[in-house]
Amino acid sequence: MKFKDGKDIKKVLFTKGRIARGVNRAARWLDGKLGGAYAVGICTLKGGMTFYCDLIRKMKTPVQTEFIRASSYGSGTVSRGTAEICGDFGVLLKGRTVVLVEDIVDTGRTVCALKKYLTELGAERVIVVSLLNKPSRREVAACADYSVFDVDNLFLVGYGLDYAERYRDLPYIGVLKDEIYV
Ligand code: IMP
Ligand code: MG
Repeated sequence: MKFKDGKDIKKVLFTKGRIARGVNRAARWLDGKLGGAYAVGICTLKGGMTFYCDLIRKMKTPVQTEFIRASSYGSGTVSRGTAEICGDFGVLLKGRTVVLVEDIVDTGRTVCALKKYLTELGAERVIVVSLLNKPSRREVAACADYSVFDVDNLFLVGYGLDYAERYRDLPYIGVLKDEIYV
């Protein structure tokens, strides 16, 4: 059996502690922004899962939890540029405040497509919160209302983020050794 020993990681960029402090800041910001409104929290699968679960437990405002799936990456490290969206909300979002939670905004295409999709389903307000943001990679006008950490143009893994479906289960965020990328 193979264990998580971190030997594929070249550098840890965000430790568990630093992430936790960032999640706290995002929770306080959201509490302020929502002002007590009962929102629908939508977790973007799969990358947003860890951040989402930590975030809603730190928020004082209660949220209803839903999931949405957006895939743009395939198994590589370069965005395919289009997001396939999969989510079934019916009339649930009509007139509601939605908090969309993402792992990372890279080109910005995924969050923008998701925001448009949720707005078309009748959401009154869509607040986009992302853990990470790569401003240098932006191709479309930024749609995130809050992002916790800005990062350089590096491919990151851990805390929900994957490379070829691996490393999502690391408790920190880091960069893989060059030889791991195929
Ligand atoms: P965008 O549409 O280019 O903004 O891509 C956003 C999606 O690509 C994110 O939700 C992630 O799933 C994925 N992604 C972007 N950068 C990284 C990264 O550094 N590591 C892992 N996944 C990433
Ligand atoms: Mg994602």
